[in-house]
Amino acid sequence: MAKIIAIANQKGGVGKTTTAINLGASFAALEYRTLLVDADPQANSTSGLGFDPKVKDASIYECMIKGVDAATAVKKTSVDFLDILPAHIDLVGAEFDLTDVENREDRMRETFKTINDKYDYILIDCSPSLGLITVNALTAAHSVLIPIQCEYFALEGLGKLLKTIQLIQKRLNTHLEIEGMLLTMYDLRIRLSNQVVEEVNKNFPQMVFKTIIPRNVKLSESPSFGIPVIAYDAESKGAIAYLNLAKEVVERNKKKAA
Ligand SMILES: Nc1ncnc2c1ncn2[C@@H]1O[C@H](COP(=O)(O)OP(=O)(O)OP(=O)(O)O)[C@@H](O)[C@H]1O
Ligand SMILES: [Mg+2]
Repeated sequence: MAKIIAIANQKGGVGKTTTAINLGASFAALEYRTLLVDADPQANSTSGLGFDPKVKDASIYECMIKGVDAATAVKKTSVDFLDILPAHIDLVGAEFDLTDVENREDRMRETFKTINDKYDYILIDCSPSLGLITVNALTAAHSVLIPIQCEYFALEGLGKLLKTIQLIQKRLNTHLEIEGMLLTMYDLRIRLSNQVVEEVNKNFPQMVFKTIIPRNVKLSESPSFGIPVIAYDAESKGAIAYLNLAKEVVERNKKKAA
């Protein structure tokens, strides 16, 4: 059965999609069968892996709303061991379409039922909102990985996210855990970056990943070529950091299982 990790933070532009694509590609490089689920109508994970999100094709929307079998919507990417369940702009409508559906928080968990055993890891790239699609993602997931940008107001909104997680743990998914907080876009030369690292570690001891993702231009360039950074420049600091993160997640989970 796959370990399902939602990558969430309702704060925009903190590195959710960059993490989803590159952690996914790093799991794949370690030969773990990995599925990246694009749960954001912006469809950045979809386009970042070289798929056109405007093409009318089965997507996570059809699976959640129309009950299309996820196995038929999943696509192979250019990376071995990495598949994607793409998004389409239609996903915007899902928030609305779901309002009258029975078990509307449970559609994504249902969607994964036919594909769970085909993967070791399923990563869900959430949108910058705590709407119904993100609630679906947190209900379907075993854990949530929270990217935090090393910038001003890094911790802003985090309280609300943690409250939402607690609510979901109470009502919808008692087993939901916090996989960890990931510091992103760290810049060694900027003092503020170090302050954020200290502050997050002080507020959330034990929860923060040892691996810190540096600000690295290769990470922002690779999506425009439709490939993860490991295929674009495997030697880059960004590629190495995400590979280290994948190893750290694998190790943590091995320890937990033991
Ligand atoms: N470590 C990094 N180094 C350099 N650029 C980065 C890094 N991480 C992310 N970026 C860039 O920052 C921008 C925001 O990142 P990303 O799209 O991953 O955030 P997001 O949280 O998914 O945003 P949204 O909330 O809109 O979904 C993108 O242009 C991305 O290329
Ligand atoms: Mg995104």
